[in-house]
Amino acid sequence: MTIPVSVDPIDVLRSRTSEKWAEYPDDVLPMFVAEMDYPLAEPIRRALHAAIDRGDAGYVATTNPLPAALVGYAARRWNWDLSAATLLSTADVSMGIVEILRRVTSPGDRVVITTPVYPPFFDLVTEAGASALPVPLADTGSGLRLDLDALDAAFDEATAFVLCNPHNPLGSPHSAAELARVADLAARHGVTVISDEIHAPLTQPDAVFTPYLASSEIAAAKGFAIHSASKAWNIAGLKCAVMVATGAEPAAILSGMPLEVTWRTGQFGMLASTAAYTDGQGWLDSVLDALASNLDLLDELLRTHLPEVGWRRPAAGYLVWLDFRGRGWGDDPAERILREAGVALSSGLGFGDLGVGYARMNIACSAELLEEAVLRIAAISPGPAAE
Ligand SMILES: Cc1ncc(COP(=O)(O)O)c(C=O)c1O
Repeated sequence: MTIPVSVDPIDVLRSRTSEKWAEYPDDVLPMFVAEMDYPLAEPIRRALHAAIDRGDAGYVATTNPLPAALVGYAARRWNWDLSAATLLSTADVSMGIVEILRRVTSPGDRVVITTPVYPPFFDLVTEAGASALPVPLADTGSGLRLDLDALDAAFDEATAFVLCNPHNPLGSPHSAAELARVADLAARHGVTVISDEIHAPLTQPDAVFTPYLASSEIAAAKGFAIHSASKAWNIAGLKCAVMVATGAEPAAILSGMPLEVTWRTGQFGMLASTAAYTDGQGWLDSVLDALASNLDLLDELLRTHLPEVGWRRPAAGYLVWLDFRGRGWGDDPAERILREAGVALSSGLGFGDLGVGYARMNIACSAELLEEAVLRIAAISPGPAAE
């Protein structure tokens, strides 16, 4: 039995100063950036209060409890043995991607990303001095999946692949078979795979998350993964992620990184992430329940009020990829929805190919807010905006 979690009251949410509730005026419903409206998990609150009480806000120590906490979590949750892995923390997943890319690519190299995908992937590849090679996901009839033939062809030109597992914005974990095939193809073409697994703890109990590095021996030997408690426990501002290597070569790359890379880890992030991995599963189970019931509600609301909007229920996470093309609101429905309904979604355009006519909705909010958002959107007239 999980204890139900309820969102913070609206006045508390509006008093938050991070991006989700600070970006827009009070009459806009913020359903864009990936932050959640739930209160912090009790073990995290306790860990942070205790750290403040003892003035424990210095640099993260070289030896700290986070790696062991992640090893324990991976074993319990995913039956993934990281006891012999090399784990190196840094400020966030984005920085982990850039730091690894800098070491496995040369300036101008192509790096594959599979679109539609988390928009900053484009910039992170550029920040590392490489250039993005988008490979659209393939429509299998039962949802967008990795296009293994297209990846095979693209890997001819590429040096690295930033994989999103589970995939943002679809909330789809890739299957063990798909991942193992990616590892084979990558090894054949000498491509390094970096698997961003930030959404993994948010996989619903009826779905399966396979860590990329656990999908095959080749994946384990050659690949990198990046984990973080930041998305699942809503602590992105505390700045903490962990780069993972299980093979000798990638482990040597992590171990060779300058101390500065790991010193960028937030001390509060390290303490909060340790608490999350150690004692935070009860809270996360409640959140997963609340998200599942919001997805049921969204299903009912869309059927009733916006039947032309296409979507697939995500198996992981709280982001929903909505196809507004049937409503006739043009290439960027999020722009019209913000202007006419006062609901802030993420524009599909930033997600690359296949984002035209789409928008992403964050449903980690109260049922009331979700309902109001859908009703406001449904009140916009179908077809092009009046001049
Ligand atoms: C797939 C993915 N990777 C990375 C990030 C950003 O993570 P961080 O804040 O740790 O850089 C996000 C944030 O939503 C994300 O969805």
